[in-house]
Amino acid sequence: MISFTRIYLALICIITFFSFYIYLSKRINESLISKEKKSDKRELVLDLIQNPNEFVLKYVDLPFDFGYGSNSIPLVISALISNGDFLELGIGSFSTPLLHKMSIDYYRKLISIDTNSDWVDKFKLYNDTRDHRVYLVENFENLEDKIGSKNKKWGLVLVDHIEANKRPTHAKYYAEKSEIVIVHDAEKSSEIYYQYEANSLRSSFKQACKFSIYQNKEKTSYISTLILSNYIDLTILESIFEKVKTEFGHVACNLSF
Ligand SMILES: *[C@@H]1O[C@H](CO)[C@@H](O)[C@H](O)[C@H]1NC(C)=O
Repeated sequence: MISFTRIYLALICIITFFSFYIYLSKRINESLISKEKKSDKRELVLDLIQNPNEFVLKYVDLPFDFGYGSNSIPLVISALISNGDFLELGIGSFSTPLLHKMSIDYYRKLISIDTNSDWVDKFKLYNDTRDHRVYLVENFENLEDKIGSKNKKWGLVLVDHIEANKRPTHAKYYAEKSEIVIVHDAEKSSEIYYQYEANSLRSSFKQACKFSIYQNKEKTSYISTLILSNYIDLTILESIFEKVKTEFGHVACNLSF
């Protein structure tokens, strides 16, 4: 009887020991993998700081478009310094293919949303790919329900849709839900439509950086893209943008409007 109890206890000891061993080795493995991921990211960002044009020109075609494509460079750079999936509010002939390619290369899911069925139809084929979904919605209210992404934390959200005066509200909504939020058309001359300043969009974020591109040689008009974050130190953007902007660009980080 006694020896039976001993065997029983010994068995329990052995099982406990092995369970603990398996648990511990799993945790060590997990932490090694996440460390590896982090150092991969650090290497990528270092590479980006050194050779930003290598990355930009992989996703943005020359000659650069200084109109609808004026957010392309900030998109590429912001995608690379952030972690997590992409959400695009408003489909664009420059931003959508660009983010699509980056989503493939970096295994980051992409959701593109628009209220215009013609636009959605043009890009519908993306819906049949691995990581990209395209949605037609009536409006951008209760979006999380419509696309089934409640409580999701995004890597990058681009707010570039047609509901001009609602852009500030939508951008603010993602202030804590995305590592980076980008709004397009943030130049002074368009404030009347988008009202980013009137709605003090900047105050919802710790960091902001503005990338502007002149639309003509005379430098009489420009389009700005505003990059906002509560998670990432955007001061690194300044030196990166300075290297890629060409004479058509202008960079202002650490903004406080
Ligand atoms: C894309 O696929 C999703 C399901 O994965 C579907 O809900 C959505 O309606 C599709 N979009 C289009 C434009 O067909």
